[in-house]
Amino acid sequence: MSSDPQGLDGGLTNYGDRDFARYLRRSMARSMGLSNELLNKPVVGIAISPSGFNNCHRYMPELTAAVERGVLAAGGLPRPFPTISLGEVFLNPTSMMFRNLMAMDVEEMIRAQPMDAVVMIGGCDKTVPAQLMGAVSANKPAIQLVTGPMMTGRHKGERLGACTDCRRFWGKFRAGEVDAVEIAQVEGRLAVTAGTCAVMGTASTMACISETLGMSLPGTAAIPAVDSQRLVAAEESGKAAVRLASQPLTPRQVVTRESVENAFRMLMALSGSTNAIVHLTAVAGRAGIRISPERLNQISDETPVLVDLKPVGSGYMEDFNAAGGVGAVLRELRPLLHLDCMTVDGRTLRERLDEPAGWIDRGVVRTREAPVSPLGGLIALSGTLAPDGAIFKRAAATESLFEVEGRAVVFENLEDLAQRIDDPELDVHANDILVLKNAGPVGAAMPEAGYLPIPSKLARAGVKDMVRISDARMSGTAYGTIVLHVAPEAAVGGPLAIVQSGDRIALSVARKRIDLLVPPDEIARRLQAWTPPPEPKRGYAALYRRSVTQAPLGCDFDFLAGDVPAGVAPA
Ligand code: FES
Repeated sequence: MSSDPQGLDGGLTNYGDRDFARYLRRSMARSMGLSNELLNKPVVGIAISPSGFNNCHRYMPELTAAVERGVLAAGGLPRPFPTISLGEVFLNPTSMMFRNLMAMDVEEMIRAQPMDAVVMIGGCDKTVPAQLMGAVSANKPAIQLVTGPMMTGRHKGERLGACTDCRRFWGKFRAGEVDAVEIAQVEGRLAVTAGTCAVMGTASTMACISETLGMSLPGTAAIPAVDSQRLVAAEESGKAAVRLASQPLTPRQVVTRESVENAFRMLMALSGSTNAIVHLTAVAGRAGIRISPERLNQISDETPVLVDLKPVGSGYMEDFNAAGGVGAVLRELRPLLHLDCMTVDGRTLRERLDEPAGWIDRGVVRTREAPVSPLGGLIALSGTLAPDGAIFKRAAATESLFEVEGRAVVFENLEDLAQRIDDPELDVHANDILVLKNAGPVGAAMPEAGYLPIPSKLARAGVKDMVRISDARMSGTAYGTIVLHVAPEAAVGGPLAIVQSGDRIALSVARKRIDLLVPPDEIARRLQAWTPPPEPKRGYAALYRRSVTQAPLGCDFDFLAGDVPAGVAPA
């Protein structure tokens, strides 16, 4: 890449006559009412995704204006451009199916349009991963700006935040502890401002990961969406992008093996969303970086949970921001971090952390000496039920269920689950293990269905948690003793495909194992009789089905990942 800004003259349209292409482009740009002076400035693209189907991006127009202000103040020409928008709860079958589509949109539009740097504004769960994936592949200087989390609502004297409290109240409703009138009141009090979910769910986890990777400006991950400081962060991101345009620092210089390891450490210290493992794996994969399950577990075992936020703890993102945010956690983790990693403000992580810390609320961000938990929040499991791995959020699970063997109660797919889970005749007991099949990336675009509901007859009897296993994902705001992302998934013929009700399954968190206690020859016999589900024939669904990888590879498309050859063991 040239170190000189190319501005509007970059990447000219190909007519076989460069001067004509330049002349035509400038004449069309003039039709937007831009002066010649501005047309000669470095160009900063602003990737935006406001949508009437994305509540989390409601304030994006105001953020965009603030970024434009920053770009202009620093001597650049801001050019907002749209990409698709992924509003988590408005997409069918799942938002996960469209993350890679948005990543392709972001990558191609950054590459195709004449910009020297880009600020990407995202927030809702899949948008930040998609933007980071696209930026790493396009490899033009890029800054991630997040929309910021919601503020909490109030109900009967307690604070409510989407969506941990959504699930908590829905569980009470199913158990008959909350009536229809109250659940309707709560519905209007869970998500009361613009911004992303108010707890350490996937959106907040990815915001913190982006800051830790060095792709967002320091101190910006946790600022609430409605706080005036978020607009300041937007303006500063615009200014920083103009600096990057003249002193290029590319995403592949920022997203390195070392910064990815730092980000995994942050994920553990936050006890963040299990989804973030898939997303960070995909972002790293775009740079040809893979972190093995063994290294993930090593990082987890070395990194204490330091942040006391829902769904694992008690606080909300507004508390985290006031407590010191990502900077406070990074300072506690400092001895474990790679400090020479670059950030998009042009400094190393070491230089950032050498600055004074400011006040830290130790009720929210703990010290390493007095952590929320001495071990990281997430671990990778493997075993005969998940030969290529599975994920378990130990910090959100019930410790008495960590070493158990139980009888499988199997649901063949999401429809089967919906039809039978509340059947009073369902043969299920509190110490059984619930198993959901065919909800993996290929089978069902990996919905957040891993948080199987407790069968209502058990919920009404007071059962709060059971071991649940699937190839699905789980919302970052959910909790329970839940094994997720089982790979290979059922729809591609993993052992999960042939589990039957009545089989015995063993979970050992200490040994990081998940095993199907069925003799190998019986597993082989059942697999021989297994047939794959039909494939979609056209459109994006067919492309997705053909190309999506399994969870341990980040569910990226096989033709978009970086330069790690398939089948090569990661370092
Ligand atoms: Fe957008 Fe939760 S719905 S972050």
